[in-house]
Amino acid sequence: MSEPAGASIANVMQETRVFPPPAEFSASSPIGSMEAYQALYDRAKADPEAFWAEYARNELHWFTPFTQTLDWKPPFAKWFVGGKTNASYNCLDRHLNGPNRHKAAIIWEGEPGDERTLTYLQLHREVCKFANVLKGQGIKEGDVVSIYMPLVPELAIAMLACARIGAVHSVIFGGFSAEAIADRNNDAKSKLIITADGGWRRGKLLPLKETVDTALAKSPTVEKCIVFQRVGSKPPMTPGRDLWWHELMEQASAECEATPLDSEAPLFILYTSGSTGKPKGIRHTTAGYNLYVKKTFEWVFEPRPEDVYWCTADCGWITGHSYVVYGPLSSGTTVMMYEGAPNWPAEDRFWAIVEKHRVNILYTAPTAIRSFIKWGDHHVDKHDLSSLRLLGTVGEGINPEAWIWYHRKIGGERCPIVDTWWQTETGGIMMSPLPGATPTKPGSCTKPLPGVFPIILDAQRNPVTTPNQGGWLCIEKPWPGMLRGIWGDDDRYIEQYWSRAPGMYLTGDNARVDDDGYYWIMGRIDDVINVAGHRLSTIEIESALVSHPQVAEAAAVGKPDEVKGQAVTVFVTLKEGEPTPDTKESLKQHVRKEIGALAAPDDIHFAAALPKTRSGKIMRRLLRDIAAGKETVQDTSTLEDYSVLAKLRGDEE
Ligand code: PRX
Repeated sequence: MSEPAGASIANVMQETRVFPPPAEFSASSPIGSMEAYQALYDRAKADPEAFWAEYARNELHWFTPFTQTLDWKPPFAKWFVGGKTNASYNCLDRHLNGPNRHKAAIIWEGEPGDERTLTYLQLHREVCKFANVLKGQGIKEGDVVSIYMPLVPELAIAMLACARIGAVHSVIFGGFSAEAIADRNNDAKSKLIITADGGWRRGKLLPLKETVDTALAKSPTVEKCIVFQRVGSKPPMTPGRDLWWHELMEQASAECEATPLDSEAPLFILYTSGSTGKPKGIRHTTAGYNLYVKKTFEWVFEPRPEDVYWCTADCGWITGHSYVVYGPLSSGTTVMMYEGAPNWPAEDRFWAIVEKHRVNILYTAPTAIRSFIKWGDHHVDKHDLSSLRLLGTVGEGINPEAWIWYHRKIGGERCPIVDTWWQTETGGIMMSPLPGATPTKPGSCTKPLPGVFPIILDAQRNPVTTPNQGGWLCIEKPWPGMLRGIWGDDDRYIEQYWSRAPGMYLTGDNARVDDDGYYWIMGRIDDVINVAGHRLSTIEIESALVSHPQVAEAAAVGKPDEVKGQAVTVFVTLKEGEPTPDTKESLKQHVRKEIGALAAPDDIHFAAALPKTRSGKIMRRLLRDIAAGKETVQDTSTLEDYSVLAKLRGDEE
């Protein structure tokens, strides 16, 4: 991490508007007032282990009860030790003997407009069959299975089938490149990959299987590839390796008992960007994660039995894992799923879906909201959004103006907005308003959930006690949904999260607490940028760039962007010669190939040299200012060569 805590964290937001929860919401809420929230928070604080143990006993199915709530050998936590449970059982089987048996579990809409609904019973059947398919291919407890699919119900089926037999899934977002897939397969030593012949995005066919073929040429551990037929393209199939999903499913039995799994059996790996080039495989385990996403889902979204809940995230991200699949299904909620782009065939697609399926709860990203604002209110006005009762945001801070638009235009001024702060590593939501209790302030994720104990540290690692003073956001005590490590790399886990603020989990975010005890997230403290709610490491992008034959050196920084939050700006020094008109496009294509389209730079600046400290470190903060077109206010006393800076400024584009 490059910058000291507290340094130059200016509090630029002066947001004073407060929105109390609507009275009728509070009246029917399980936690209907700040007093009720505080009482629950205090109960958790008085004895966190007893607090979680009680929920765990009541809300998960146990094949074998646990004997110890928490085994905490910092920074390694084990929750609900000695117990055996199964996340697929908790999401499916538990609902089969009650009123949810024939309730819709997933209502799915494909981008071309095709629709499918799977009840809990039907989903259970598909999951059991696919679990048998996996077994038939030799997949056993502890084996890693990669999943690279469009957002179709089969993606959730594949995840739950892995969970059912104790295989560890590693979902790779469908926008990643072949290189990125191969890296993840190799790091996790994945044995099998599940993909589709393609997916739809803005009317175009994404050739997922072809991308997987390229990846598999460099993934020696992957023995089999199961291909779901989504678009009817006819990708080449490698005999002996590639198998059609539908052919295997025809043969599969629908009987498959869920395997009783140790509480700490790994449930999944999800790769995310850190402050070094190599993506980290964040490891989550079974019982603690399952309980945490179920409880936080229920606290934050207060689903009613008749609700249709729509989280617009793809299952390739943690939000899709926790709040499309494991949280809502554990709680017996009906989940809306949509495969495609929000602007296909037109910019009103989301609102058409809300109207048609009478969506009650909508959970989306600020970047999407900013796009909707840009596209214009007339797209919203065409549709009846009166079914909505609760709105949520996740992935990055929401600027107050976007918050107000969401509140007025989408929520009709009647829906509370839950701005949920959390991370891939935290497994589930850590801070958020509770819709019936917490008065909201646009741009603040408000207060920690019960059982979450945040603290802010100053540059000397002392707790910040002055309101509104920014510092490192840390979490003081373990919680059930926390990551258990980085796949295969305990040292990196310790170094990354537990070494700078000893004894506490370092989130990597800066934050401040206002006079009312409300938290405001102030961005990252490391070299991670957040593009359209997706985490990218600047170093990953730089490594991709320098693998281009013409590039000598590269620096990537985030630049403020009206829609995406941050856009990727790169500064590049070529090995020799001047850039030609094609060089920029060639570099963009190269990053697309190495990482994926989401990392492709928006701006490329060529420079004869990059500004460096005398010790050779690239001065990113300086570059950030230049990218944003700001006058540099940074201390440049360590800059090696002043003329570099002048040239960069005069030489943009
Ligand atoms: O910087 C914070 C930002 O996104 C980071 C986590 O990214 P990721 O692991 O990809 O997970 C995203 C979905 C949970 C955080 O460290 N972030 C996420 N939610 C918020 C946020 N920043 C401000 N407000 C939020 N509500």
